[in-house]
Amino acid sequence: MTRTIKTGLWAVITVILAAAAFAAGQDNQVPKAERIFNISCMACHDLRKIQTQALDGEAWTKIVNRMVDNGAKVEKEDIPVLVNYLEDNFGPLPEGPGKQIVLEKCTVCHDLKRVRQHLASPEEWADTLGAMENEGLMLNDEEFAAVLRYLARNFRQ
Ligand code: HEC
Ligand code: HEC
Repeated sequence: MTRTIKTGLWAVITVILAAAAFAAGQDNQVPKAERIFNISCMACHDLRKIQTQALDGEAWTKIVNRMVDNGAKVEKEDIPVLVNYLEDNFGPLPEGPGKQIVLEKCTVCHDLKRVRQHLASPEEWADTLGAMENEGLMLNDEEFAAVLRYLARNFRQ
């Protein structure tokens, strides 16, 4: 009995150690901006708060400053690098109906950089949305129409 528990525990520890070693190994390859982001921005809340934003550098600067006031540890000289990273990955999206749904629904599986970089015809966007639904995206008919109109208008080939 004890033996089984010990073996089980050891298996868990091995997995944790392997994961830590993997993370440490990865760390060297992760660009500085991403490291700052992972260390400074994941300390209090998950990515969701950040993923669901689409902001320019100025707006991100304000948020980062507010987070520093909240207690986030970011060196002053690292702020521009971090803001660039945030703008690159969570940059602005055009205003308009459908934007809010995109922010909420399309960020569940990937960031919006993927969406911003994709230019397509309305027909292709309809196909892409269908493919996303197959992946697990949930939109009712009204939301589907609003998102399709938004994407076709703003990310047209
Ligand atoms: C010390 C804890 C802490 C850290 C570290 C932290 N945050 Fe926050 N964050 C908060 C709190 C508390 C809120 C909710 C209150 C607020 O919006 O100020 C929040 C809210 C947010 C929001 C939502 C703002 C909105 O207007 O809805 C964003 C975006 C955000 N944080 C981004 C970041 C980024 C980027 C970093 C890394 C620089 C970061 N946070 C690090 C505490 C933290
Ligand atoms: C349930 C998970 C999920 C949701 C939600 C989701 N996607 Fe995706 N998306 C994926 C996956 C997985 C891929 C990668 C598929 C691939 O590379 O073949 C992807 C890839 C993409 C691509 C790149 C396609 C390409 O051909 O390069 C675009 C554009 C995209 N998604 C748009 C969206 C939009 C817009 C939404 C919201 C309306 C959305 N996604 C919501 C899972 C999702």
